[in-house]
Amino acid sequence: MKGIILAGGKGTRLYPLTQSVSKQLMPIYDKPMIYYPLATLIEAGIHEILIITTPEDLTLFKNLLGDGSRVGCKFSYVSQPEANGIAQAFILGEKFIQNDPVALILGDNLFYGTNFIQQLKKYSSTDGGMIFASKVTDPERYGIVLFDENQKAVEIEEKPKNPKSSYAVPGIYFYDETVVDKAKQLKPSKRGELEITDLNQLYMNEQRLHVEVLDPAIAWLDTGTVQSLMDASQFVQVIQSRQGILIGSIEAAAYKSGAIDKEQLSELATELEKTVYGTFLKSLI
Ligand code: DAU
Repeated sequence: MKGIILAGGKGTRLYPLTQSVSKQLMPIYDKPMIYYPLATLIEAGIHEILIITTPEDLTLFKNLLGDGSRVGCKFSYVSQPEANGIAQAFILGEKFIQNDPVALILGDNLFYGTNFIQQLKKYSSTDGGMIFASKVTDPERYGIVLFDENQKAVEIEEKPKNPKSSYAVPGIYFYDETVVDKAKQLKPSKRGELEITDLNQLYMNEQRLHVEVLDPAIAWLDTGTVQSLMDASQFVQVIQSRQGILIGSIEAAAYKSGAIDKEQLSELATELEKTVYGTFLKSLI
């Protein structure tokens, strides 16, 4: 399975912070935001990854992440000139995807929980589409799934004014090889975007959208506002210092998923030895 990280958009809700630097490069405690979704994909065993961002920010991401060989992965890049919708990622990524199944993760979504990676690994060969649903207190801000009495997902809606359900769809999605054709069938919504919710609706129409309720023990954090950015930093800081682990480390994820071996990890830890981050990496060996 291949992976795509969508890390474009203007981040206007974080201005002036993001006026000249991409939102997904903002720090979440001790790492740039994109490290978290990237580490999620890598740890799940997805090592061939396309990063989509704005033409202005592309060089910054390349400077940060390179071609991925440092962590035993293959990273490539495509720019999205306008934020025309999340589902556009599959049209922009057509050459990269070819005929393979693909996972998409939003560059500003952070997941944490020991069982999460295990849950993700089950979907490395998805038949149809697979999304998660997670209970939230502010469903009007998200894509929403409605379940019937048999816990079957029956309706999916983008940011409804009067949500019929409190199950939101987090920003991680798994699709089979028909995703590019489906994305091409989409028409822009009222707000002018190719909506990910409309893409999921196409899979639902075919009775091939699997919706899995996210284990409540898994933390799904949004980083869209200054307050939620701060909350996410505090969350990472508390867990890391209490438990002596690193959340969102691409080096640790690469090691755990077999993309690099002990020696390579040791070299990476030495590069970072002046930091607490490097000390954490050393402790893994
Ligand atoms: O966070 C999960 C939610 O993400 C889902 O529940 C919604 O169904 C989905 O539409 C999306 O809602 P948001 O309002 O959070 O989407 P937003 O426009 O903020 O975009 C999410 C991220 O994707 C953000 O980091 C910017 C990036 N993005 C977005 C669009 C529309 C792009 O890179 N390009 C785009 O064209």
